[in-house]
Amino acid sequence: MSDFFSIRSYRSTYQVRFCADFSADLKSELREGDFLVVDANIATLHANRVDPLRAAHPHWILQPAEPQKSYQGVEPLMDHLIRNGFRKNHRLVAIGGGITQDVTAFIASILYRGVGWIFVPTNLLSQADSCIGSKTSINFGAFKNQIGGFHPPVLILNDLSLLDTLPRDEIRSGMGEMMHYFLLTGRADFERVSREYDAALTDRTVLRGLIRRSLEIKKAMIERDEFDEGPRNVFNYGHSFGHALESYTDYAIPHGIAICFGMDIANHVSAALGLISEPEAAEMRVILQRNWRPTVPVVKDLDRYLDLLRKDKKNVGSDVRVILTRGLGDMFLTKIPLDGVVLETIRRCFDYYQATPAATAS
Ligand SMILES: NC(=O)c1ccc[n+]([C@@H]2O[C@H](COP(=O)([O-])OP(=O)(O)OC[C@H]3O[C@@H](n4cnc5c(N)ncnc54)[C@H](O)[C@@H]3O)[C@@H](O)[C@H]2O)c1
Ligand SMILES: [Zn+2]
Repeated sequence: MSDFFSIRSYRSTYQVRFCADFSADLKSELREGDFLVVDANIATLHANRVDPLRAAHPHWILQPAEPQKSYQGVEPLMDHLIRNGFRKNHRLVAIGGGITQDVTAFIASILYRGVGWIFVPTNLLSQADSCIGSKTSINFGAFKNQIGGFHPPVLILNDLSLLDTLPRDEIRSGMGEMMHYFLLTGRADFERVSREYDAALTDRTVLRGLIRRSLEIKKAMIERDEFDEGPRNVFNYGHSFGHALESYTDYAIPHGIAICFGMDIANHVSAALGLISEPEAAEMRVILQRNWRPTVPVVKDLDRYLDLLRKDKKNVGSDVRVILTRGLGDMFLTKIPLDGVVLETIRRCFDYYQATPAATAS
């Protein structure tokens, strides 16, 4: 299978390759001394393909927990690498989701002033979004993703068969992240995901088409704004409202599902401010709701939610910076006050979500 495309970056051009079996591709790619960093769940769930690689290469099994993304968390692995013969010409190979990615990329960016790394993303969110974009972040105490830089991998191997073991919620989370790209580009992509959504959940060929399209949308932007200096901020569409919901529910709602609610809130606030019509917001709600169901966010303390929203982007004064929309494909950064019609709209959105039975998070 030779389905691939390339991304231009400040370090080098790197390739995203769709493959049928990542272990076969790695076997031919890897050189002596290359070092595997493997998500502990993947090492177990996909032992048949990971074990032969582990037999041939030095490796580290990583527990995919957020505290790993810290100075203290990366230290034992760095210590191991430095003491056990890992050299500047060797590469790190991350096999896992976003946590394994960030830990590996962060170390690769600073060890010996930078070494190469290869990424095998194993969940839908990392296959369709985070695998490209160069960002390498760890947390600093309670401050998420505050330390890091831009250090792209040299190769990404996207193997959709890994998704067979992914829980359904994580699939919906990845689909939510993809939807945010499709709404950002306009009607053609919106209609495509609306049409192909059901099939994508069961048919890997359809899903691969949507993953590829998401990555193409992101590629176009990161090649223009690799260091996130302006234009790329439209990718925060749905994210401010969504992050506040993730924090409010103590991360009980997966990221990509939280941003589906976030996009819906952004759309309805846009309608309340006269930027789009109510039917336009309702039209987008159809596909977002298909994906967020059966999750129901229960926000009883709206003031606490609003406080989290104010904190999200270190807003100054009472206005918050969010991405709103003038319609499909036309999202833009603006500042809004959290009172009056905006406040009322956010309240009405949560009332709407909670009108659905079977709450999953409060
Ligand atoms: N660098 C970036 O550009 C970027 C972008 C987005 C998010 N992130 C970071 O990524 C982290 C979240 O990533 P995540 O949600 O992928 O978390 P994660 O790496 O913890 O993965 C989530 C869970 O899914 C499991 N998993 C992964 N693949 C699986 C599979 N195929 N089958 C079964 N289980 C599987 C993992 O073991 C883990 O338990 C956050 O720290 C976030 O800040 C980074
Ligand atoms: Zn996101």
